[in-house]
Amino acid sequence: MFQKSLASVLLWVLFQLLVEINCQMTPFTPKQRELHTATLINNKLYILGGDDLHDKPIIGKEFFYLDVSVSFNTQELSWNDLSSIDIVPPHTGATAVKVNSTLFLYGGRSDGLMATLYTYDLQGNTWSIPTVTGINSRKELLTGIVDHNGKIYLWSGLLIDADGKEGNLVNDMLILNTINLSWEQGSLIGAPTARYYYGAVLLPNNNIIYTGGYDNKAELTLSQIYIYDTINDNWTVKTASGQIPSGRDGFSTVLGLDGQRVIIFGGANTFDYKNFVPEDSLYILNIMNFEWYIPKVSGPIPKTPMFHRANIIGNYMVVSFGYGYDAKAQSDILLLDISNNDEYIWTYNFVPSPSSPSSPSSTSQSVTQSSTLTSSPTNSPTLPQPTQSNKSLPMIGAILGSLFGGILFSFGCFFLYKWNKNKQKDVIPPHYDLYNQDEMIIPKEINIHDFDATNHEPMIPAPVITNRNYNNAQVVNNNERVSSQDLDDLKNVFRQEIQNLRQEILQNNRQTSVSNITRNNNNLYNY
Ligand SMILES: *[C@@H]1O[C@H](CO)[C@@H](O)[C@H](O)[C@H]1NC(C)=O
Ligand SMILES: *[C@@H]1O[C@H](CO)[C@@H](O)[C@H](O)[C@H]1NC(C)=O
Ligand SMILES: *[C@@H]1O[C@H](CO)[C@@H](O)[C@H](O)[C@H]1NC(C)=O
Repeated sequence: MFQKSLASVLLWVLFQLLVEINCQMTPFTPKQRELHTATLINNKLYILGGDDLHDKPIIGKEFFYLDVSVSFNTQELSWNDLSSIDIVPPHTGATAVKVNSTLFLYGGRSDGLMATLYTYDLQGNTWSIPTVTGINSRKELLTGIVDHNGKIYLWSGLLIDADGKEGNLVNDMLILNTINLSWEQGSLIGAPTARYYYGAVLLPNNNIIYTGGYDNKAELTLSQIYIYDTINDNWTVKTASGQIPSGRDGFSTVLGLDGQRVIIFGGANTFDYKNFVPEDSLYILNIMNFEWYIPKVSGPIPKTPMFHRANIIGNYMVVSFGYGYDAKAQSDILLLDISNNDEYIWTYNFVPSPSSPSSPSSTSQSVTQSSTLTSSPTNSPTLPQPTQSNKSLPMIGAILGSLFGGILFSFGCFFLYKWNKNKQKDVIPPHYDLYNQDEMIIPKEINIHDFDATNHEPMIPAPVITNRNYNNAQVVNNNERVSSQDLDDLKNVFRQEIQNLRQEILQNNRQTSVSNITRNNNNLYNY
C-alpha cells in the first residue's frame, strides 16, 4: 500500500520534472494574428488580442511581451508569456496606448461580454476595469493616440452595438482623460469623413495626423492629410504632393526619429487583400512640406503585411504580426532600421539604443535620440546585469531539474517495475490529452516503459497533487544536499510551473470552447 502510493507520488514528481524541463526548453510561441495591439512600455513590447483572418476565429487569451532592452534576432524571438494574469476576454480590433507605466486598452470586439476599457498596470502587474465618468461608446478598428497630458484620442471607427456585434461607422472624437478618468468629446468641425483601418500618428507639436482608411465603400486617399490640434481642439486639412501612395487601409503609421517625417508601411488597396509589392509598401510623408516620397531601402525586403502594428523602438520601426506575411520565411517581427534617413535598412538584428532605458514616453524617447547617425556596431551595448541573472535562474532550474529528473526517473522506473509486477493497476499521472499537443511535447521516455495502464481511468486530483508534489520535491532535494539558495530557486520554479500548468489546462479548455463558438459564428465577421 505504502509502496504503491510512493510510486504514484514519484511518478507525479517525475512527470512534473519532465514537463518542467520541457517547458524550459520549449519557448512560448504565440499564434499568428492581425488587428492585435502592440504597446511599448518600459522596454517591453506587449502584444494582446487579435484574430486570424484565415479561419476567422478571434485569437485566444494570449498576453505576452518581447523584451527590447536586449539585443535579439527576429528569427530567434524569445517571447515572455503573461497569459495567466490576463483578464481581458479574447477580442480583436481594440486599440492600446501607454500612459506612464499603464497600458490602456480601449474598445474591440469579443464573442462574449467585454468592458469598454481595461488597464494593465506594470507596477502591480495587474489588470483592472476602471470606472470612467461621462458618456462613452465602444468602437473597434480605430487607432487611439495619447498626447503628453494623458488624454487618449479615439476618433471614428466602427461602433460596437449593444449585442457586442459590429455596428455602423461612427464619426466622433471620443477623448479619454486618464488624469480624472472622464470621457470627453472633441470637435468635429472640419473633421474627415468616418472611416476605420486608417493611419494616425501624434506629431511633436501635439497635432495628430489622420489619413487613408476604409469607409465600407473604398480605400480612402492619402493625398488628404487631416490634422487635429489637441491643444485647441480644431481640425484642418492639407493636400499632399509628391509620390502620393494609392488609397489604402490596414497600413501602419509611425513618426520618424527626427520628428519630421511620417512613415507608413503595408496595408492593402483592394478589398480582396492583395499585398502591395515592396516598391509600393513603404512611403514617407515629410511633414514640413506635406510631400510624399519613397525612401531608399536596403536589406532583405519582407513580404508586406496588413493589419499589423508598428512601434518605434530605439532606431527601428518594429512591425509585429499582421496578415499576409510569411511567418516561416521571415518572422512575426520585422525590423526596419530608420536611423539614417538617406537609407532605411531591413534587418533581422535588433540592437537596443544605449540611452535612457526607462524614458517616460516612447515617442519623446525616439524623438530625442534623433540626430546623430550611429551605425549599429558602435552602439552595441553590454547586456544589462538583471537580465542576465533572470536568464540564468531558469537555466539553473532546468539543470537541477534534469539532474533530479534523471535520478527520480530511475527511482520511478524501479518502483514502477516492482509495482507493475505486483499489480496491474492504474496509478498514472494526469492524462496527457488534457493538454494542448502543440505546447506540450510528450517526453519520449514515458512511452518506453509501456504504461498500458493509460487505458484505464486517469486520476486527476489537481490541487492535492500540487501540495504533495511540492513537499515531496523538498524531501528529495534535502537528500541530494543542495544549497538552500538552489533549493529556493527550485521551489520557485516548481511553484511557478505548477501554476502555469493549471492555468494552461484552464486556458486550453476555455480556448477550445471559445474557438468552437467563433467557428459557428463566422458570418458575424464581415470586413
Ligand atoms: C501619469 O503621471 C503623471 C505625473 O506623475 C500623473 O499626474 C498622472 O496622474 C499619471 N497618470 C496615470 C494614468 O497614471
Ligand atoms: C476632468 O478634467 C478636465 C480638465 O483637465 C475637466 O475639463 C473635466 O471637467 C474633468 N472631468 C471631471 C469629471 O472631473
Ligand atoms: C486651431 O486654432 C488655433 C487658434 O485659432 C490655431 O492657431 C491653430 O493653427 C489651429 N489648428 C489647426 C490644426 O488648424
